[in-house]
Amino acid sequence: MPSSRREFLHQSASLAAGTLLPAQAVPAEVAGASLQPKTTSAADTLSVALIGCNNMGWANLSSMLKHPGVRCVGLCDVDQTVLAKRAADLEKLAPSSPTNPKPALYSDFRKVLENKMIDAVIVGTPDHWHCLPTVMACQAGKDVYVEKPMANSIEECNLMVAAARKYGRIVQVGQWQRSGNHWREAIEFVQSGKLGNIRLVKTWAYMTYGRKFDPKPDAPVPAGVDYDMWLGPAPKRPFNEARFHGSFRYFWDYAGGLMTDWGAHMIDMGLWGIKQSAPKSVVAMGGRFGYPNHAGDTPDTMQVLYDFGNVTLQWEQGLGLGQAPFGRDAGVAFIGNNGTLVADRDGWNLFPEADDDQFMTPGLPRQPRYGNDLDRHTLNFLECVRSRKQPNASAEVGRNVALHAQLGNISYRLGQKLIWNEATQSVVDNPKANELVRAHYRSPWTLPTV
Ligand SMILES: NC(=O)c1ccc[n+]([C@@H]2O[C@H](COP(=O)([O-])OP(=O)(O)OC[C@H]3O[C@@H](n4cnc5c(N)ncnc54)[C@H](O)[C@@H]3O)[C@@H](O)[C@H]2O)c1
Repeated sequence: MPSSRREFLHQSASLAAGTLLPAQAVPAEVAGASLQPKTTSAADTLSVALIGCNNMGWANLSSMLKHPGVRCVGLCDVDQTVLAKRAADLEKLAPSSPTNPKPALYSDFRKVLENKMIDAVIVGTPDHWHCLPTVMACQAGKDVYVEKPMANSIEECNLMVAAARKYGRIVQVGQWQRSGNHWREAIEFVQSGKLGNIRLVKTWAYMTYGRKFDPKPDAPVPAGVDYDMWLGPAPKRPFNEARFHGSFRYFWDYAGGLMTDWGAHMIDMGLWGIKQSAPKSVVAMGGRFGYPNHAGDTPDTMQVLYDFGNVTLQWEQGLGLGQAPFGRDAGVAFIGNNGTLVADRDGWNLFPEADDDQFMTPGLPRQPRYGNDLDRHTLNFLECVRSRKQPNASAEVGRNVALHAQLGNISYRLGQKLIWNEATQSVVDNPKANELVRAHYRSPWTLPTV
């Protein structure tokens, strides 16, 4: 994980089941391009553009540029300071040349999508800005690498899945554990049956950051920031630095706290191991117990239980805490009759159960990570853009874990157990919960029609 990701406040810093951007806001040539998806061969140089350049977007682009046959032809951000910095960084990383022209700089992602040279876009914007650029990029015939969590509502996630399918685009979500060798090996072990009946999957994130996050006064919009475009479909409100770069993730308007930030990674591993995609019911509890005066909306402490019938998945989050389960700040533990397999970003172990002094499965010492999982994930995306095979973290994979993360937060916010109906994509007999399942876009943005 990029080191800056570990810093809590690194603030350098439009659908009624299908309606957001006003129809006239989608340029005709963009809409038309959806009928003629670009095709690329293994020999082609892929041209990518980055939308949302500050932190993880830049990490993704830097990773992609390590692979041969790819160049960056566009950078887009609503903050001109970020844009200028990343343009300079890119020049250092991949100096311009006749075959690698300087990237075009954009402040409006819709203009990026008009550029027919671009094969694929990376969407590194805050969560409330994942759906529309992704859907519009698919409509424009471009493949998409979009950050996790897939979106800030379940309705948006479903639209993104529908767009990837309808327009035949490759959509990879930034859940890069899916491309990690040690993760794949751990999951193969879990699925081998050697653990016996798996009765509980624990997933968690305890992060020592977030102890200091004081509210800040509203302030003038910083020079060079198109704040209305940063807000986009989110509710209008005065500029406040505490809600801006990086720390947006602790406000419901834009994101879902540790649950959508880390849960999107670790719960994804749990779902992969037990081959589940949707829970029967969800119940969450927690609060802002550690730091009640923090600026954010989201809980610093929360536990969530997901019922799958014959196995339970548990999520735990602890912002500002270092004493995490199994001594790992974020991870997953598959607890079976014969032993517990514990995995995190650096490796996995097997702790066997014993019966009459006999181990029920051989224990395994630490099986370390090897290679760079983010680089594997971006490589997998580029390979799939060329081969047109489904990527490791497809739109469906991204949607499934986002569903769990969003339902956990909805249960917490309402203080209610939720019964999920996967067939209707709704919470049973619960209009308030279903309001939160849906996306609510601020005019003039409207949900895209797919
Ligand atoms: N996969 C991972 O390990 C990982 C790690 C960190 C963050 N993330 C995800 O990456 C996303 C971004 O997080 P971050 O920490 O980089 O946030 P950030 O606030 O540091 O950067 C987001 C950038 O997007 C820009 N932006 C906002 N609206 C825009 C728009 N409409 N058009 C163009 N640019 C726009 C902002 O100005 C900012 O520069 C989040 O969804 C987060 O969950 C993933």
